[in-house]
Amino acid sequence: MGRKSIASRRRVSVTSCESNKEAYRLHLENNLMNKVAGRMTTINADSTTLPNRLEQKFDRILMPLPTRADKYIGTALGLVADGGVIHYYRHLTAEDFEEARSAVLNELNGVQGLRNVEVRKVREVGPRWLEVVADLHLSKN
Ligand SMILES: C[S@@+](CC[C@H](N)C(=O)[O-])C[C@H]1O[C@@H](n2cnc3c(N)ncnc32)[C@H](O)[C@@H]1O
Repeated sequence: MGRKSIASRRRVSVTSCESNKEAYRLHLENNLMNKVAGRMTTINADSTTLPNRLEQKFDRILMPLPTRADKYIGTALGLVADGGVIHYYRHLTAEDFEEARSAVLNELNGVQGLRNVEVRKVREVGPRWLEVVADLHLSKN
């Protein structure tokens, strides 16, 4: 589910962060075209600054930068609410899904408060190159 379809649901508010100025401008246009601008807070910044800028914690975090999600997992963990879920998208070199699954679980080894992880294949990006998403269910206890 993308941010637009989440924002289309009633009583849901969505915060989105985009560092690129042109992509941010297009994001604002999309918010209007999809009639979700009233429920979207759209921030033009480097996402690593968010834990210091925002007091709010989030029930669900999407990480749609599969090439570098490993660099940003610490930021996402600083923003997720107790009991929240992080959708960790990753591009990985692997022979098959099982190898990609092991690689992503290995990357997440040591994440504090990880209660449950489900890994799914999203698509084949290229030969021996898969996109997977790991749904991280987190709790402080
Ligand atoms: C693969 S695109 C995702 C496109 C679209 N935002 C989506 O969710 O479908 C990744 C986006 O992350 C943005 N990005 C990369 N590094 C970032 C960072 N440190 N903080 C915020 N946005 C970043 C890029 O400018 C790019 O638009």
